[in-house]
Amino acid sequence: MDVAALRKDFPLFDQGKERMVYLDSACQSLRPRQVIQAMDEYYLLHPACAGRSVHRLATQVSLRLDDARDSVASFLNASSSGEIVFTKNCTESLNLVAKGWKFNPGDVIVSSAFEHNSNHVPWLELQSALGLKRRFAPATKEGEFDLEGFKKVMDRKVKMVSIVHTNNVNGVTVPLKEIVGIAHDNGALVNVDGAQSAPHMPVDVRRLDVDFFSLSAHKMLGPSGMGVLYGKLELLEKLRPLTSGGGSVLETTYDSVKYLPVPERFEAGLLNYAGIIGTGAAVEYLKKVGMENVAEHERKLNRIMSSGLKDLPKLRMLRPLDPDRRGSIFSFNIDGMRSHDVAMILDEMAKVMVRSGNHCAHPYFDSIGVEGCARASSYIYNDEDDAKEFVEAVKKVASTFAD
Ligand code: ALA
Repeated sequence: MDVAALRKDFPLFDQGKERMVYLDSACQSLRPRQVIQAMDEYYLLHPACAGRSVHRLATQVSLRLDDARDSVASFLNASSSGEIVFTKNCTESLNLVAKGWKFNPGDVIVSSAFEHNSNHVPWLELQSALGLKRRFAPATKEGEFDLEGFKKVMDRKVKMVSIVHTNNVNGVTVPLKEIVGIAHDNGALVNVDGAQSAPHMPVDVRRLDVDFFSLSAHKMLGPSGMGVLYGKLELLEKLRPLTSGGGSVLETTYDSVKYLPVPERFEAGLLNYAGIIGTGAAVEYLKKVGMENVAEHERKLNRIMSSGLKDLPKLRMLRPLDPDRRGSIFSFNIDGMRSHDVAMILDEMAKVMVRSGNHCAHPYFDSIGVEGCARASSYIYNDEDDAKEFVEAVKKVASTFAD
């Protein structure tokens, strides 16, 4: 992977701009010109609505939406583009499944110990509103998914395993294929939070045999406010829409409604057309880079960060310690410092940008007895110099401020 060439596509690194080290891509990635241009073209050349008007501008938009849906379908290896629903983010996609599937009181939902709030809070709400029961597959002391523990919480009462693929705190990727096999053997569906996996590794929804898979475009070079829900067609057909209205129905009478087929049934109202087009451009960009290359590149950077800091006194890395198990994520604390202070000082002193706090995963932090952390997360545009600058900056912060 030619990072120097890739960096030229990202306006933030244009010559003449101040050098900064952006290591917060697990929150939001930067966008290449190709994505920005695709969205600009919508506003400049065909700023109309799709699926309604029949004039030339609207037809252009409809065709581009079809292309974007095809791009995402092929990126995930879905059976057809009809299995791709555009949403406003991964959170909305996860809510669509949780609130759109027909559960009965007493049905059990299984999740991991390290879910993001977006795959936790909707279930908490349904727990009190509908009487759903919840079980959690434990994490090991090393911060890995405990497959044996998962088997113990599975039985025929479990109707859905709703689980993160790669968690956003320590970067661990769960053994999804095995999880899906066990869930299906127990008659349960599998709903995956792919916000941190789809941007960083090849995801083949058919090989994994997942039932639903959600992602956010803004973590994978796409625009903010855009997400995707993949679902097997026959399951999407059973899902109730989260929102309804114009654009999602075939016809209505004063007292009845006939919905459009999936996926349009889930896309009520005028959509974020520029965002959808930008999402298509983002996955096309990633396809060209190659997702295996992305994963390998991030492992390389994580090894540099980990070997550079593993022996630093007063630095506590979040487990697992093996960088190859943590994808693009390096999470840590410095003794005697609050994580927000670490992040602010890294930015002030060295223009190194990381995220800090609880990362929307409070229950996991409670379970490991840690009060948040600083998190560096890399992506395709980070080079080895970024990783080395991060190491030097953290060393300086620790030697200046640690207790
Ligand atoms: N879930 C996003 C993150 O981990 C916002 O930063």
